Amino acid sequence: MLTMLLNMHDYNHQNGTHRELFRITEVQFHQFIDQGHLSHAFYEMPTAPYSLIEKIKKPDLFLLPTTLKAHLENHFPSLVIFHGETDLGKVAQCHIFVPEAENLTRTYILMFGIPKHPMFKIFGNTFLNFAKVVVDQDADILGKIYPNSPQKVKLNNEVGMDWVKRNFASFPKVVEPSLSK
Ligand SMILES: [Fe+2]
Repeated sequence: MLTMLLNMHDYNHQNGTHRELFRITEVQFHQFIDQGHLSHAFYEMPTAPYSLIEKIKKPDLFLLPTTLKAHLENHFPSLVIFHGETDLGKVAQCHIFVPEAENLTRTYILMFGIPKHPMFKIFGNTFLNFAKVVVDQDADILGKIYPNSPQKVKLNNEVGMDWVKRNFASFPKVVEPSLSK
């Protein structure tokens, strides 16, 4: 559970773990609001464009925006809502975590969308496929990066992981919110 939550709140992992899918070039972190077991993170992720030929071969790629604007609404420990906005529409991707055993957590995704463009409706299922690929990539990386990597460098956008560690250690007690930045 802790490993999974660290991954979900590691705002740097998108341009590593999901680089091939979204071609995210960097994560521009804007704000973190700490309200105890509730928090909000705001950031933007510019993406490297695909060529027209690549898009024609794989029309799903038309859905990827040049900048992914993200707002994460986090309810510790069981819910993360990714609010994303593109030119085609708005999505709310709800990640639900259900611990089943000490080393086993099940995850569900509920997706809600408001179309701004007819393409959004046509490609509804494609958004679900993106979500599936994202979860598969995260599940694959979990065993590889978080458990044994000693921390050498502290990055500005690790505040979400600090929030997870603090709440995990003190749960169910709510400790003083202090990580807003
Ligand atoms: Fe991820």
